[in-house]
Amino acid sequence: MTASFEGTAALITGAGSGMGRAIALRLAGQGASVLGVDIDEGRLAETKALTAGRLSVRQADVGDPGACAEAVAAAVAEFGRLDVLGNVAGIYLAEHTTKMSVEQYRRVMSVNLDGCFFLAQAAIPHLLETDGTIINIASNSGLQGVPYSAAYSMSKGGLIALTRSLAVEYLKTRLRVNAIAPAGTRTNIATSGTFPTDVDPDLARRLGGLRGLAEPEEIAALFAFLASDEARSITGAVYTVDNGLTVS
Ligand SMILES: NC(=O)c1ccc[n+]([C@@H]2O[C@H](COP(=O)([O-])OP(=O)(O)OC[C@H]3O[C@@H](n4cnc5c(N)ncnc54)[C@H](O)[C@@H]3O)[C@@H](O)[C@H]2O)c1
Repeated sequence: MTASFEGTAALITGAGSGMGRAIALRLAGQGASVLGVDIDEGRLAETKALTAGRLSVRQADVGDPGACAEAVAAAVAEFGRLDVLGNVAGIYLAEHTTKMSVEQYRRVMSVNLDGCFFLAQAAIPHLLETDGTIINIASNSGLQGVPYSAAYSMSKGGLIALTRSLAVEYLKTRLRVNAIAPAGTRTNIATSGTFPTDVDPDLARRLGGLRGLAEPEEIAALFAFLASDEARSITGAVYTVDNGLTVS
């Protein structure tokens, strides 16, 4: 049975494309009021159009702590509550570790990790009022060694640590914090990401699995389950959706 999110409110980052868009559409389709946040205004407008205007959108850079707090405040001001925070926005930057600039490194960490912390920090007081939930989109890169992706892997490993830490900090409440760790999924990151050309082919082969890409809607389906009351006993968990990549 599909859960109803009628009367609940969600803030989903990265809602302009890929998984964030699929998640925002899924939750809105199941009745939630959704604020979609993204740095790309044009993509956000496309997502909104797919819901016949039902979705609320806000342009923001999750790498900016002040913008994170403002986005949470905007969701609460608009909906009067917050039940779900989905930290989905992320960037992938593949590079030889010795060639990463300080700016590239800091950008990956600030978007993929710092933003999730600051959004959670602002959202938690509201989520405690609704027995709400935080769902973080991590990656197989946070669970296994992945070449040419040290900063990205650090950010995703950190996100898994953040997930577990918050889950335990709030164990005596009804707030739940979980993570999904996808591997290759058919989104912009996977299909149009750049990769250094001078890589060792044996190592580069380790990036892909044997079974191809997942679809963003599969991530959205798991997200919707984790956000629902059927998952009320699940907190501190990390779910792989990786076609067996990390286990093999
Ligand atoms: N696609 C994959 O193969 C894959 C695998 C593992 C994990 N992930 C993770 O999934 C998440 C979703 O990515 P996706 O695959 O849907 O890619 P995507 O590029 O389609 O979507 C990412 C969205 O995040 C937005 N974004 C980027 N920087 C932002 C910022 N500073 N502030 C606000 N929004 C910003 C982009 O504009 C984009 O709309 C990311 O965290 C990514 O690391 C993706």
